[in-house]
Amino acid sequence: MANTILIGAQWGDEGKGKIIDVLTARADIVVRSQGGNNAGHTVIHRGTKFVLHLIPSGILRRGKICVIGNGVVIDPIALVAEMDGLRRLGIKIDNNLLISDCAHLVLPYHRLLDEQRELRKGHVKIGTTKRGIGPAYGDKAARTGLRISDLMQPILFSKKLQAKIRENNSILAALGAEPISFREVNESYLAAGEKLRPFAGNTVVYLHRALERGKEILFEGAQGTFLDIDHGTYPYVTSSNTTAGGACTGPGVPPHRMDRVVGVMKAYTTRVGEGPLPTEDRQFAEMLHNLGREFGATTGRARRCGWFDAVATRYACMINGIDELAVTNLDGLDTVDPIRVCVAYRLSGKRLDVPPCDAAQLNNCEPIYAELPGWRKSTHSARKFSQLPAAAKDYLKYICKLTGAPLSIVSVGPARGQTIVV
Ligand code: GDP
Ligand code: IMO
Ligand code: MG
Repeated sequence: MANTILIGAQWGDEGKGKIIDVLTARADIVVRSQGGNNAGHTVIHRGTKFVLHLIPSGILRRGKICVIGNGVVIDPIALVAEMDGLRRLGIKIDNNLLISDCAHLVLPYHRLLDEQRELRKGHVKIGTTKRGIGPAYGDKAARTGLRISDLMQPILFSKKLQAKIRENNSILAALGAEPISFREVNESYLAAGEKLRPFAGNTVVYLHRALERGKEILFEGAQGTFLDIDHGTYPYVTSSNTTAGGACTGPGVPPHRMDRVVGVMKAYTTRVGEGPLPTEDRQFAEMLHNLGREFGATTGRARRCGWFDAVATRYACMINGIDELAVTNLDGLDTVDPIRVCVAYRLSGKRLDVPPCDAAQLNNCEPIYAELPGWRKSTHSARKFSQLPAAAKDYLKYICKLTGAPLSIVSVGPARGQTIVV
């Protein structure tokens, strides 16, 4: 399989967790490169639904090593809770998890600042997951963050934490929020730190040694291309590089060690949170929600839904250098007829083939649609491409051609087996 970067080609929640789980069968190591517990990756394993937030989805399969790389922001309390939750469900976590000591920490003041900033933004809020991700990456870029390596040195950590809490309490007071207790945070973080100690270390060296030994690595992207801090619909984005480059910088593996990029996209479009979504369609969303589909894995919020947007995915294909496409949730379209596909945008009378940089302009883009016939049949039980209805095959070929990369996987249900390798 070689070294594979898997990224979301849309606005997150493309079904990356499910595809990672399928590809993990052939990988030795699974790596999270960026993001934090804003991610929610769903995997159905032995009939049980798991939602992974910080731990790579590979943890569910025995014999696979999971790495949380330098570029991830870690809430130690949330990570320990996730580990405990997995263990309760019978998942082994010991020498199969490594955590970079360079990864930055998410602290309680990050979560409070995230919440306060959103409150103050009012109707122009980002719609964050309120996990403190933006403020944590903000501290990292400002070079005032605390890292796992600090947490591993209790005396040093307490000293740095005290100064940080003092500073952040005055900001929180100015925002009208309650102050944070140094004592409580210090105690709970140091306790979590002790639980994480056996897993912390230099993951860069580990990954490079593994590469030298010919191990195959799967880089599990979090979020999606249009939530990327540099390439997404700014400011309605997350605070990390969710695109393929982030899979190199986050874990410290150079580009020429990567062999392929798999882009995951839904057969339609969804977004959770605010910001432009040109193909949004409320009726289509209602239909999916009535089926119990498209509720966020992290926050439970109803996802906004729309038609497949080929302008967006074509751009994603370019930024990420997507070699292969995995299309998920094909079955979401099983009852829809006709099916619309956005082939271009119209803005102020002009046709656009790439999304504009400005979020307000993107918001004003009117989709130009092509209409394709639906198949009006269940695709859930198809296991080979040839078993799909002719209209479904035509639809897949059409959206992949517009996106600009060959189709390699089709997903027709959440379970591992509901997968077609093309
Ligand atoms: P991720 O963040 O990209 O890993 O995606 P999420 O797990 O947040 O959301 C994807 C949702 O779609 C989850 O509920 C998955 O179980 C589900 N899912 C993935 N692929 C399919 C599919 O092909 N069909 C159906 N019905 N559900 C799917
Ligand atoms: P996975 O990995 C979908 C969205 C939030 C919000 C914006 C910023 O499961 O695909 P943040 O909390 O990161 O500051 O929020 O990004 N967002 C996601 N949307 N899937 C995710 O992760 C997301 N992670 C963040 O809803 O719009
Ligand atoms: Mg998700």
